[in-house]
Amino acid sequence: MAEAEWWQRGLVYQVYPRSFQDSDGDGIGDLDGIRRRLDHLVWMGVDALWISPVFPSPMKDFGYDIADYCGIDPIFGDMDAFDRLLREVHARGLKLILDLVPNHSSDQHPWFRESRASRHSPRRDWYIWRDPAPEGGPPNNWLSEFGGSAWQFDEASGQYYYHAFLPEQPDLNWRNPAVRAAMHDAMRFWLDKGVDGFRVDVMWHLIKDDQFRDNPENPGAGPGGAPAGRLIPEFSADRPEVHEVVAGLRAVMDAYPARVLIGEIWLPPERLVRYYGANLQGAHLPFNFQLIDAPWDARLIAGLIDRYEAALPPGGWPNWVLGNHDRSRIASRVGPRQARVAALLLLTLRGTPTLYYGDEIGMTDVPIPPERVRDPYEKNVPGLGLGRDPVRTPMPWDGSANAGFCPPGATPWLPLGADGAGPTVARQREEPDSLLQLYRRLIALRRMEPALSLGSYVAVPAGGQVLAYERHHGDRRLLVVLNLGGDAGVLPLAVPGRVLLSSGGHAVGAALSGRLDLEPGEGVILALQPG
Ligand code: NOJ
Ligand code: MG
Repeated sequence: MAEAEWWQRGLVYQVYPRSFQDSDGDGIGDLDGIRRRLDHLVWMGVDALWISPVFPSPMKDFGYDIADYCGIDPIFGDMDAFDRLLREVHARGLKLILDLVPNHSSDQHPWFRESRASRHSPRRDWYIWRDPAPEGGPPNNWLSEFGGSAWQFDEASGQYYYHAFLPEQPDLNWRNPAVRAAMHDAMRFWLDKGVDGFRVDVMWHLIKDDQFRDNPENPGAGPGGAPAGRLIPEFSADRPEVHEVVAGLRAVMDAYPARVLIGEIWLPPERLVRYYGANLQGAHLPFNFQLIDAPWDARLIAGLIDRYEAALPPGGWPNWVLGNHDRSRIASRVGPRQARVAALLLLTLRGTPTLYYGDEIGMTDVPIPPERVRDPYEKNVPGLGLGRDPVRTPMPWDGSANAGFCPPGATPWLPLGADGAGPTVARQREEPDSLLQLYRRLIALRRMEPALSLGSYVAVPAGGQVLAYERHHGDRRLLVVLNLGGDAGVLPLAVPGRVLLSSGGHAVGAALSGRLDLEPGEGVILALQPG
């Protein structure tokens, strides 16, 4: 695999543009801000950045409601600012991945305005319109991810339209070839500029049942969960026809060299991997979110790695995601000590790692006072802990006012974490043992060691909270041993080795044989003696 693609070797870093760096003092991050902070990414060793949507939007779902697929929202800058960013990203040898949101547009998109204008509008069929049920009310029982029915009644035309998310995010009708053609054109607009790929929002939602059958009840739904969890989305998502749509997106990408198609897909491994497509003509990387969902338990995680590796189609390239703008941050999920182990795990598993901004310094979920809540999810179904504002707070760069995120006089759109005592990039750059320095060392090691970036994965039996595996490339054999528990751990060593990196007390270069003793929450990478 000497000729691996950049997206196989590289680390993807997700930037949430509103919260990375504000350059104009409105308290909201923007494109010039991201450009100013590229040094941080280069210093860390990141290969590609994926930025969440920056297109014109009423911001009902903070950019995931798009009113123009080929523009830039003034909050983030303008097309010149975008072109400047893309140029500088490329000048530094980085790649830029945009967020494509093809499942739904904003209700303010001209397409939807036209569609809604009348039953006879030429664009009526660009969205999903249905008559009320015979006895009145919504056409079926489908639920919105953000609470309530997924059907919105339109008084003027007497029909309902479908929205998997907010009513302000009507779903496009991907059975309509004109919709496909229009979205393909939008993709080409950015690809022609030189954008290196897309992360496709809710890829598994793109096609719904053509008969609009009711979704079955979910017997496993418990109280306090997401409201849409009441039903199993059997007929509203992950339909067989979706794969043909994905292949269509891929065909657009394949007309350009070296681009990557990433799919956001929340499904169990066996269904997830179908999104690689027949003959691998689907997504290059169907996002694998298992580390976000799994309890932090060595045996469970060992099992899910095996299950995922076994499910992958031949030639399908794996990937692992540790966090994103929709879920609790890793440092909040597992605590500061285990966040270091998580860094080792992410950077040593087989497959492309994706890292969420701020996780490299151990940012935690920031409590949001009720009057500062911005996320529509929290507003719709308050108090369930589903709101995503806590994981979208501004990046703390340094100890200056507003943590260097926005000018001193400005008010950041979401509160910064607690006080000056929290982690900052500047502080962690000074501390040799910081999480940030650990990430940087890991990324450098991964770049140096083809065994880590491209090598095979071999599970190693271990007990208790110890997770162990080898990565092989040619003669090179690396052993990764992680202690996911709060007690000391041990792994017998069949072959002697030398420490390449430790998140705890083991000195780099130390020779070990017989056994490896781990501190609570320590992770170690060993180079094993060639046999
Ligand atoms: C998934 C995105 O990650 C999330 O932030 C958004 O609200 C929904 N899709 C709807 O676009
Ligand atoms: Mg700004």
